[in-house]
Amino acid sequence: MTARNDNLDAFIMALAKGKLMPPALDWLARAGFTFTENLSQSRKLMVPAREGELTVLLVKPDDVPIYVEYGIADAGIVGYDVLRESEADVFQPRALDFGQCKMVVAGKPEDDYQAFRFRSLVRVGTKYPRIAREHFQNRGIQADIIALRGSVELSVTAGLADVIVDIVETGTTLKQNGLVVHEELFASSARLIVNKASHKLKLNFVDRLLGVE
Ligand code: PRP
Repeated sequence: MTARNDNLDAFIMALAKGKLMPPALDWLARAGFTFTENLSQSRKLMVPAREGELTVLLVKPDDVPIYVEYGIADAGIVGYDVLRESEADVFQPRALDFGQCKMVVAGKPEDDYQAFRFRSLVRVGTKYPRIAREHFQNRGIQADIIALRGSVELSVTAGLADVIVDIVETGTTLKQNGLVVHEELFASSARLIVNKASHKLKLNFVDRLLGVE
């Protein structure tokens, strides 16, 4: 995949709007880049850093790997959960020390999850259809994967799904909706991802990002 941001003096990074934004901005500040406005509140979608050299694109988490794979952004910061779901062809040179969470199967506390494998069909509400499908396939459980855009806990409490596959960070959302973790799939944290061509063409800048403490 060629880098379409071919301007060697301009480095473009895609950042996810939402929970990852504040720690990602702290991390960029440690790399020496700051912004005149509060990006968590701004409606601007393309913002140059005060120091020049770097411009950030503010996109939905699911879109970060797409912008990086296609080379519109040279790099991006995205959760491993989203990256794994996207299967984007990008370099993943380092994990970052924020955005820690777990991908889990969760459901009603009264359900015997181990007995789900004897059911003819399990309905699964999720924002991660690929991860969920693969997981239940590997376990030999026939699953109807219901792809949702958010508030997935509601799918169980409202009766749309038997379980959810979703991330748990503090556990508050599960608790407030009366659900429990049935199974842990994998741990996730934020990742720095880099376009494959940019990794070669802009190695100095990439090295600078890799060196951030
Ligand atoms: C995510 C996730 C859970 C919640 C977990 O949703 O899908 O619902 O956070 O966090 P917690 O364990 O700290 O409660 P998000 O806030 O991204 O919103 P969404 O429901 O719109 O997807």
